[in-house]
Amino acid sequence: MRCAILTLFPAAIRPYLDESILGIAQAQGNLRVDLVDFRNYALDPHRTVDDRPFGGGPGMVLKPEPIFAAVEDLERAHGAFHKVLLCPRGRTFDQRKARELSRSERLLFLCGRYEGYDERIRQGFAWEEISLGDFVLAGGELAAMVVLEAAVRLIPGVLGCAQSAELESFEGELLDYPQYTRPREFRGMAAPDILMSGDHAAVARWRHEQAKVLTAKKLAAAPTNPQPTSNPRPTGRGQSQDP
Ligand SMILES: C[S@@+](CC[C@H](N)C(=O)[O-])C[C@H]1O[C@@H](n2cnc3c(N)ncnc32)[C@H](O)[C@@H]1O
Repeated sequence: MRCAILTLFPAAIRPYLDESILGIAQAQGNLRVDLVDFRNYALDPHRTVDDRPFGGGPGMVLKPEPIFAAVEDLERAHGAFHKVLLCPRGRTFDQRKARELSRSERLLFLCGRYEGYDERIRQGFAWEEISLGDFVLAGGELAAMVVLEAAVRLIPGVLGCAQSAELESFEGELLDYPQYTRPREFRGMAAPDILMSGDHAAVARWRHEQAKVLTAKKLAAAPTNPQPTSNPRPTGRGQSQDP
C-alpha cells in the first residue's frame, strides 16, 4: 500500500509511523508512507494555509488552494488515491472499514486543523469522510494513525500470525475472550484452571462462553445515539483555541 498523509505537523507523527507494526510494514515493503506538509503548497511568502471564516465565527479555516495543489501533485506523480477526509462529521470508523481500506493500493489522508476545512475542499474531490467518534480532536493526525494502523495490520503478511487478526474482536460477532499468561497466580489472582487442562475442546468452549458474556455486557452498556450538547454555537468572531 502506498499512503500519503497531508498534515501541517509531519514531525508529530513520523516517530509513530516508524515504530511497531507500521514500521515493520514499511521495512517489509508492504507499506510506503509519504508525509506531505501541505504548507509547502501555500501560495504566498508567509506560507499561509488558513484564514478567517466568511460570515464571522470563531477560529480559522483551512484554505482550499494548498490542499488542492498537494492532492493534485500526489495524484499526478502516483495515480489516483482513495482519499480519506478525517472529520467529526464522517462515518464512524470500524473494523469493517479497516478491512476494506486494507485492500487499497493507494490511500491518502487529509488531516484537518483549526476549525476544519473550507467546504470547497470537500466538494473538489471524492472523499470518504471518516470520524473516530463523537468527540473533537485538535487535528486529524491521531485519527489518521488510528485508521492507518487498523488497516495496515490487516494487509496479508504484515502480522506474524495471520490468525491473530482473524480471531480478534469485531471480526466475527463476538469480542475477544479473556487472555492469561504466566505467572499462573499473581497477587492472589489465579488464571482459570481450565486453560491449563490440556483439553482443547473445553478451552474453546470456555473461551466462547466468556466472549459471549463480554459481548453481551458491552451491548448492554452501549450508548444510544449521541445527543448534541445544549451549548449554542457562537457566531461572533474569535480566536481559534486549537493550534
Ligand atoms: C478542531 S477539529 C475541527 C472541528 C470542527 N470545527 C467541528 O466542529 O466539527 C480540527 C480537525 O481535527 C480532526 N478531527 C477532530 N475530531 C475528529 C474526529 N472525531 N474524527 C476524525 N477527525 C477529527 C479533523 O481533521 C478536523 O478538521
